[in-house]
Amino acid sequence: SKILLVNGPNLNLLGTREPQRYGSATLAQIETDSRHRALELGFEFTCFQANGEGALIDRIQQAAREHVDFIIINPGAYTHTSIALRDALLAVAIPFIEVHLSNIHAREPFRHHSYLSDVAHGVIVGLGALGYRLALDAAAQALARPRP
Ligand code: DQA
Repeated sequence: SKILLVNGPNLNLLGTREPQRYGSATLAQIETDSRHRALELGFEFTCFQANGEGALIDRIQQAAREHVDFIIINPGAYTHTSIALRDALLAVAIPFIEVHLSNIHAREPFRHHSYLSDVAHGVIVGLGALGYRLALDAAAQALARPRP
């Protein structure tokens, strides 16, 4: 199976961006760890980060052409704003898990709503970089035993 990891705006700054909130791991470390876990689980693995909404949507559309089986996505602030990202994920109909490093429900009210959560396979919040690993394990389970 093919897994795509997508990170949205400002996540390229991980490691130096508000480390007390988002942790000290860089995006490169998260991507490397995710690749190792994905390969252990027997997946083909690709990752992508972009700051722009259009680039993220283009990558999700491309995923359908590549027959990606599962997406793990941290959409950053577009979580709270982007109907377009929601529509892209619905259009390709690839199951996805939404990951947030921080607990968005313990933060400002404008972060409590996600345009993606109700159409996600699952959502992981507040567990830091561990969330990406847990998402990969959950993807493996979902692909092995698809839910009705
Ligand atoms: C985030 C939470 C978002 O509210 C924020 O805009 C981010 C990161 C997280 O991983 O905790 O950029 O998605």
